[in-house]
Amino acid sequence: MKLQHNTILITGGTSGFGYEFASRLLALGNTVIITGRNQDRLDEVRVKLPGIHTFQSDVSDSEQITLLFKQVITQFPGLNMLINNAGEMRMISFHDTSIDLHNITREVEINLMGPIRMVQQFLPHLKKQKNAAILNVTSGIALMPFPLSPIYGATKSGLRSYTKSLRVQLKSTGVKVFELIAPGSTTPLNDKFAGIDGFDDKMLMAPAKLIDAAIKGLMKDQLEIYPGLAGVMRVMSRVAPAFLLSQTSKVGAQWIASKN
Ligand SMILES: NC(=O)c1ccc[n+]([C@@H]2O[C@H](COP(=O)([O-])OP(=O)(O)OC[C@H]3O[C@@H](n4cnc5c(N)ncnc54)[C@H](OP(=O)(O)O)[C@@H]3O)[C@@H](O)[C@H]2O)c1
Repeated sequence: MKLQHNTILITGGTSGFGYEFASRLLALGNTVIITGRNQDRLDEVRVKLPGIHTFQSDVSDSEQITLLFKQVITQFPGLNMLINNAGEMRMISFHDTSIDLHNITREVEINLMGPIRMVQQFLPHLKKQKNAAILNVTSGIALMPFPLSPIYGATKSGLRSYTKSLRVQLKSTGVKVFELIAPGSTTPLNDKFAGIDGFDDKMLMAPAKLIDAAIKGLMKDQLEIYPGLAGVMRVMSRVAPAFLLSQTSKVGAQWIASKN
């Protein structure tokens, strides 16, 4: 797709991939709107990226999504692209009985219900636009379980399945549906894994390089974009899924057991 003169809404634009996307897409000559929960962080981005537009909004809250839609469409009726990027990844040991029934599904509400509700809310508008697109950010962990972050893995596999179905259903419309299958990257999301047994931060890709690959993929209309190691994970998940699981099971095995 053409990546100039679009009006693009990115959920979770204050750090990591969302920030990189915002910075690159602004520089390419697009109108860029970002969201996040923390107003101070949104204000910091406004200083760092002059021209950016920000809205405080929590993607796990359906009422906030409805309000966001009204505000964004009033100010930016030309909105033609949605990037569902906001996400959270936690380490969870099922042996930890202190996690209550509300807390255990937090990533489902942000990473899976968030994008599903955003699409439901914005799709009728996007269908009326020229050069419209939705990009859902999934993960290499959508292709295989990652036992240290079991709920996160479930959300990303779910989002991948949803994205494929969405693409089929929107085939006859002008809305392109992209998926960024992102490999591990040096963003704040991964800070919590420092020092965890079996976690190797040398495998992580720089976010700027990863988003560069994502932008190139979008420009070439690659509906599924696999930067860096995600391409290897794609092949391995098909030819050697049991081996992949045995490898990912080693990450944080001691940490998980320590909660027993
Ligand atoms: N980093 C990786 O290794 C990696 C790999 C594969 C896929 N991904 C995916 O890439 C996406 C971006 O991750 P990242 O690594 O860039 O993470 P990050 O640096 O932690 O950034 C997450 C962004 O999402 C926002 N956010 C979190 N929860 C939100 C909510 N409920 N509503 C609105 N905004 C929310 C955060 O701002 P506030 O906290 O202020 O709300 C922040 O702007 C996520 O979907 C993640 O699962 C990451």
